[in-house]
Amino acid sequence: MKFKNQIAVGAGFLTALAFTLAATASPATITIQADQLGAKINPAMWGIFFEDINFGADGGLYAELVKNRGFEFPDPLMGWIINRAQLAKGEVTVRDDAPFNAKNSHYVRVRSEGTGLFGLSNEGFRGMGVKAGETYDFSAQIRSVEGKPVLKVQLYGGDGTLLESVDLKKLSGDWQKYTATLHPKDTDPKARLAVLLDGRGTVDLDFVSLFPENTWKHRSGGLRADMVQALADLHPGFMRFPGGCIVEGPWLDGRYQWKKTIGPVEERPLLFNRWNTEFVHRPTPDYYQSFGLGFFEFFQLCEDIGASPLPILNCGMACEFNSGELCPLDQLQPYIQDALDLIEFANGDTNTVWGAQRAALGHPEPFHLKMLGVGNEQWGEQYFERYAKFAAAIKEKYPDIQLISASGPDPAGDRFNLAWKKLRELHADIIDEHCYAKPEWFFNNAHRYDRYDRTGPKVFMGEYAAQSVGVVSTKNRNNLETALAEAAYLTGLERNADVVRMASYAPLFANTEAWQWTPDLIWVDSLHVTPTPNYFVQQMFSCNRGDEVLPLELSGLGKSDSLYASAVKDDATGEVIVKVVNANSQPCQANLKIAGGKTGSGQVTVTVLASGNLADQNAASQPLKVLPKTATESYRGGKLKQSFPANSFTVLRFE
Ligand code: AHR
Repeated sequence: MKFKNQIAVGAGFLTALAFTLAATASPATITIQADQLGAKINPAMWGIFFEDINFGADGGLYAELVKNRGFEFPDPLMGWIINRAQLAKGEVTVRDDAPFNAKNSHYVRVRSEGTGLFGLSNEGFRGMGVKAGETYDFSAQIRSVEGKPVLKVQLYGGDGTLLESVDLKKLSGDWQKYTATLHPKDTDPKARLAVLLDGRGTVDLDFVSLFPENTWKHRSGGLRADMVQALADLHPGFMRFPGGCIVEGPWLDGRYQWKKTIGPVEERPLLFNRWNTEFVHRPTPDYYQSFGLGFFEFFQLCEDIGASPLPILNCGMACEFNSGELCPLDQLQPYIQDALDLIEFANGDTNTVWGAQRAALGHPEPFHLKMLGVGNEQWGEQYFERYAKFAAAIKEKYPDIQLISASGPDPAGDRFNLAWKKLRELHADIIDEHCYAKPEWFFNNAHRYDRYDRTGPKVFMGEYAAQSVGVVSTKNRNNLETALAEAAYLTGLERNADVVRMASYAPLFANTEAWQWTPDLIWVDSLHVTPTPNYFVQQMFSCNRGDEVLPLELSGLGKSDSLYASAVKDDATGEVIVKVVNANSQPCQANLKIAGGKTGSGQVTVTVLASGNLADQNAASQPLKVLPKTATESYRGGKLKQSFPANSFTVLRFE
């Protein structure tokens, strides 16, 4: 076992990053050896974990505003209400004869007697967020059955105010896609879309859709621009997708299958979202996966934001917290084939079967897939034997693809230890560790990887998040305390960048009105995106990644001092970057020394994340309560006197 880049205190050797030495009045000293380059840091070290949980995709990143647009939910009218003006008479029926597309078989027939406006309205995903001054693209499949009614496409505010109305006339007797652009006169977080017949007649409706025109990169039917921007601002090195337990499904038929998520959106079969019923205390009966954000969109998004794609695939096991259903080993081939085909879809030449599919979708260039996860949060012998079969087949055809393997739901214990033993024997590339624990765990484990074996598989801290109360507690909050605990822990990951190759917080998104799991990195409602203090920690790491680890020594700490620190060098700029968490309720004075090499003078950019109270958090009403602030200082002769505020995380960039 080698202990590279170990932080040392005085002449001693450290096993922890928090120091409780004898009380002293003098400031602490932080010494960085700028000329001793340590481990190379993976350029994709700090990434993001995406899962369709908490309305992360439908009702979140996927910008569709209509819920159950294809009437394919088991309750085909879920999300819709029948709307009638006073005295209006009519009928709405759900049918599946002669649909516009056999793969989207249900539609509604609206018959109006013409005595008033009659039809349906959609509530969206806990209300539709619309903004005055913006344009919204309506589309629907429509077939006129009888009479010549006008179809009114209208937007109503949450209080019933009419925000916009457009007429569609002379409707065809055959299914036809109609479009309209809507311009709401007011901003409203709880708008509804109505489709109403004006005049006597009967009309069939299906695939009723409404998107903001202002999607990410203005792609029609694309992603919510403000949410993608929040991801882009993280400068993520990788993007893990599509989860999470959603990969596994509660049973095998309910698993995520990437091939069902590409091609025309109306042909992507709807799937029950496993978070619909997962928590009895947070039921979400209207949660289904439309796959409008499917695997093609995932690869495209990665390309847009410069993240290396990291798909996680089902390994023939349903979620072990649910049915734990297993695909028999002798029937595993279709699952393995899905993995091989996905690699071809991402990277294959356009004359291969799946490379041609990618080209047909508008992307002949490869997506440069380098990593693939086999299973999500699996454990037990049944996983290792399945992983071995995947690994053999994938490595034979694609030896350069790095495989991510699972170590179960906990970062310690029998299941975890067995996973490491077995996966080490199987020469696994990278092992995915999951960690949801109290803030204390994160502080206490800032040294965790100092003791890791330097040989064998590398580590992907694939899901981590400090829980202010406890795992799956609805009372967990994204507060400053959890963010600082994570920052302290991440200094340990960074310092051990030779072992820990990647890390991502989980889950990523949560809709404030439709979440199942808390805490989450980014909270959204229909109009706003609110980054948490935890988001800023992740961002401060990813935007200050550096290329090599530098040795850092802490000394002269007082009895109550509680500092966690790491240092790296940025090759492109030559800057030394130092990260320091002060987990004490008192400010900590320190002398920083950049030793070795040319220890000159210059500017230091100092970015501090702090707030008055450990319980402070951000909210849509106060989005910037806990926010990093940047200032510039000067250092001379490689030295800087710095006061680290109480309960703070600081990044210093030495010119
Ligand atoms: O991040 C939420 C869930 O936690 C993930 O789906 C799962 O992998 C883990 O148990």
